[in-house]
Amino acid sequence: MQSIKDVGEMLQPRQKLLGTYTCEGCGRSVEKKEMVIPMGPRKGETIIADIGCKCEDIRLVEQALRQRDQAKLRKIQQQFDNNSLINKSLQKATFTNYIPPNEDLRQVKSRLMQYTKEFDKDESSNLLLVGNYGTGKSHLAVAITKDLMEKGFTCLFLSVPKLLTKIKQTYNAASRFSESDILDLIERVDLFVLDDLGTEYTNNKTDNDNWTHTKLFEVLDNRSGKSTIFTTNLNSDRLGEKMNERNLSRILDGTEIIKMVGKDYRRRGF
Ligand SMILES: Nc1ncnc2c1ncn2[C@@H]1O[C@H](COP(=O)(O)OP(=O)(O)OP(=O)(O)O)[C@@H](O)[C@H]1O
Ligand SMILES: [Mg+2]
Ligand SMILES: [Zn+2]
Repeated sequence: MQSIKDVGEMLQPRQKLLGTYTCEGCGRSVEKKEMVIPMGPRKGETIIADIGCKCEDIRLVEQALRQRDQAKLRKIQQQFDNNSLINKSLQKATFTNYIPPNEDLRQVKSRLMQYTKEFDKDESSNLLLVGNYGTGKSHLAVAITKDLMEKGFTCLFLSVPKLLTKIKQTYNAASRFSESDILDLIERVDLFVLDDLGTEYTNNKTDNDNWTHTKLFEVLDNRSGKSTIFTTNLNSDRLGEKMNERNLSRILDGTEIIKMVGKDYRRRGF
């Protein structure tokens, strides 16, 4: 038969207070104790325990929140599956099948391959690909996106008109995701490609343009500190006319401008 003392020891394991301190991790007052495990397979083993420290609990909660966040992001990203966003003519675009028609574009291709190689998601590096129709601006932007996704980076490729349409669709009550879901996704991806800048308006002075300017500003603002690639076939004067100055200055701020001039590849058969 067990003595009363033994039973007491079982309920209240033998322990020795080694000291108390305030945990830097969780801010709680913690007692460091030496204890003897009273039962189970490790019975009798001496351990040091930090009683009162909540660091592990906090870590688990944070991990759960992160996982929920990532799951949500993945779901939205599936809706925004790049394949459905990229035009048919560009779905096969890669660096390999971009054949530069002149020396300048050969250099552009190698600069963009280098950009892809050096890409660092924690370092903002923006590009503006400028040039006339059909020189491969979108083609090379898609190629970058594909290569980076293969390396495990998250990327989103959207033309400005498509972006605006997607946002407008969320105003529909039946929409599966909200405007802020879209802005969230844009904010979080490692690389965002905003294709066809300057094609978004019909004329300058309607309310609709104000809405467009505001939305673009929100998007650009969300991307600060991250990398974004813009493409446009307008020169800076025309782009200045089409876009509101505040947006344009955001876009040009710290952005490397890459000129892509050449014959329209789409008309090569002529
Ligand atoms: N040098 C090239 N080698 C192979 N294909 C090319 C090349 N340049 C363009 N293309 C192809 O031509 C088509 C038009 O190119 P792309 O859409 O990239 O032009 P763009 O510069 O974005 O034009 P826009 O200003 O009209 O948007 C695409 O199907 C693209 O794959
Ligand atoms: Mg294009
Ligand atoms: Zn702690």
